[in-house]
Amino acid sequence: MKKLHFSLVGLLVFCSFTVSAQHSGSTKMDNFVNALMKKMTVDEKIGQLNLVTPGGAVTGSVVSKDVDTKIRNGQVGGLFGITGPDKIHRAQEIAVNNSRLHIPLIFGLDVIHGHRTIFPIPLGLSASWDTSLIRKSARIAANEATADALNWVFSPMVDIARDPRWGRVSEGSGEDPFLGSEIAKAMVEGYQGNDLAKNTTVMACVKHYALYGAAEAGREYNTVDMSKVKMYNEYLAPYKAAVDAGVGSVMSSFNTVNGVPATANKFLMTDVLRKQWGFKGLVVTDYTAVNELVNHGIGDLQTVSAKALNAGIDMDMVGEGFLTTLKKSLQQGKVTQKGIDDACRRVLEAKYKLGLFDDPYRYCNNEREKTELMSDANLKAAREIAARSFVLLKNNNQVLPLKKSGTIALIGPLADNKRNMLGTWSVSGDPEKSVTIIQGIKNVVGNDVNILYAKGANISDDTALIKRVNVFGTEIDVDQKSPEEMISDAVATANKADVVVAVLGEAADMTGESSSMSEIGLQPSQENLLRALVKTGKPVVLVLMNGRPMTLTWEDEHVTAILDIWFGGTEVGNAVADVLFGNYNPSGKITASFPRNVGQIPVYYNHLNTGRPYVPGEGTKFKSDYLDVPNTPLYPFGYGLSYTSFSYSDITLNSKTLKPGGKITASVNVTNTGTRSGKETVQLYTRQMIGSISRPVKELKGFQQITLEPGETRKVTFPISVDDLKFYNSDLKYVYEPGAFKVFIGTSSADVKEADFNLVR
Ligand code: NOJ
Repeated sequence: MKKLHFSLVGLLVFCSFTVSAQHSGSTKMDNFVNALMKKMTVDEKIGQLNLVTPGGAVTGSVVSKDVDTKIRNGQVGGLFGITGPDKIHRAQEIAVNNSRLHIPLIFGLDVIHGHRTIFPIPLGLSASWDTSLIRKSARIAANEATADALNWVFSPMVDIARDPRWGRVSEGSGEDPFLGSEIAKAMVEGYQGNDLAKNTTVMACVKHYALYGAAEAGREYNTVDMSKVKMYNEYLAPYKAAVDAGVGSVMSSFNTVNGVPATANKFLMTDVLRKQWGFKGLVVTDYTAVNELVNHGIGDLQTVSAKALNAGIDMDMVGEGFLTTLKKSLQQGKVTQKGIDDACRRVLEAKYKLGLFDDPYRYCNNEREKTELMSDANLKAAREIAARSFVLLKNNNQVLPLKKSGTIALIGPLADNKRNMLGTWSVSGDPEKSVTIIQGIKNVVGNDVNILYAKGANISDDTALIKRVNVFGTEIDVDQKSPEEMISDAVATANKADVVVAVLGEAADMTGESSSMSEIGLQPSQENLLRALVKTGKPVVLVLMNGRPMTLTWEDEHVTAILDIWFGGTEVGNAVADVLFGNYNPSGKITASFPRNVGQIPVYYNHLNTGRPYVPGEGTKFKSDYLDVPNTPLYPFGYGLSYTSFSYSDITLNSKTLKPGGKITASVNVTNTGTRSGKETVQLYTRQMIGSISRPVKELKGFQQITLEPGETRKVTFPISVDDLKFYNSDLKYVYEPGAFKVFIGTSSADVKEADFNLVR
């Protein structure tokens, strides 16, 4: 632990905080914050609303300037983008020793899927469908973040995304509100634990509120226009789940919602968030989102800053609209003293809950930094969690798992590539410490298997795209050999092997923020390679690295097996080898549908019926369908194979009548019909057949994971109560409606058994 260095005056004032802030509890906190706020000038209060970055986490065109001076002047409430006990201690000292009221700073960062030890990207994590594992990943991330002196993380990102063109689909949990809500809750619990003041817990920040994932055409930062019924039933649920789980902060999104930018949207920030959901924590904007309201066309900087505060925003990230204009707006009556006080209070309360008034350096601990970052235990967890995120999309002739003998041709620009293993938003991860696929395979079977390698292609040959993707460093490097030479080397290598493992896909920053794509298939360079490999007649296993659902129609038809490994994080290579060679049986299931082509987007399982529903395979005129492609996705929500197989019995209902206050149960027997032990995620869906408004054809309502030995059968039972069947009607009332329902249980949203029951009054 670092020694405390207070100036004398700082120490005196600070001691008085320490006495009153020792124990948390709302009355104590209120008294403490009230007393502090009495001492504060308007400028100091506005200063608390200013969140700056000294340049370490730039996600916009503006960087904060004169940070030290501003801290001294009491013009900064928090800092993000720096890490490490020494640096953070130094910055905290400026605030605690040199600002008039010695108010400590809060320190945040984008800790998204791990901090130094990187886990799979969130879309991959969600494919594990294992909320305790996801909670564990957040817990480890919090441990590491706090060992690096942070106390605030800008996660979880819970935006429902049904458009894989949008690069940030990688950062969330896919298309489903129920699963998204379960994961949101798990992450908040993992980060925050049960006591924010512990030096191993961090304040979480659920983002991006709201509906950021519904950007038109999947184009980054684009407009969102959505009915309130859809909003309440499908998109708001995961944010609410995070709030219900006690998340300490919320980040506003960049997009407009029904014409009003979220960051100035009183309906979202106050009516829904605070009044309907009872959120008491801190609301921060996204990066320069206040300033961007000017571009949204709702006023000049002073006007938009006032609008954001009045809407319910507390803290302004980087843009300093609040810092530079709120006082003037107060004098002109455009904001109220209460508005500023409320916002300031929430910032101070966050600091209080984090225990910063008791000890501003409580997160600065050099010992922990040394022992906890990337510890063996964390790396071990990362390996297991990565393996759990992988999804087996295809496995013809049981080509996987591979034999631990013979010769494999390991081909592809991502096979021996440290730079891209961690995926987007791994700001504190060190790519150099990641285990590549080739290294992992050597680690696991290097003594038994002859491994031949060829790069085969560049990730892309498109120079304009390469330039855009490489802004943070060379993720796509262009080989000195021509594409033709690379392919012919790869083919020659493949011809010498028993099986080809092609590691292809996206570069890390082809998804994530500002990474929308209009085509979401493999880059032509890699497609040409894959076609050439398939032509050799060798079995081809495609190991796909991707941050979004991709269009894989050709691949699905032609390669022998596809293992989707997302961006698996620090230990990805070891985890891939564990799965390829059968030390681990894959069990992931996709959480966002994979379209057959871009024209199908958005394609998601929980859609409404139409008046002229499509009948698979029928192809008659006047139905809601396409002439050239089926309505169904290539791989549906909830889909994923295993090295073993499972069969489902019909559903047994203990009653066909559900009464308010009561519950019924739906059960199936699941049997492992294959030859290996395997994990299955059994999924429960319902459909309300008749309602006051049109209701989705299926909605996920539960899931359970079971591990079965070969030949073993297990009964899986789901309770169903009226609460599970509630929804928001056209008056936005959360109701249930009596009538006929269907219940479905199965292995994916598209492969289920079904039964009927009635909900009666
Ligand atoms: C912009 C991103 O939208 C957000 O997710 C992130 O937390 C902030 N920048 C801070 O880096």
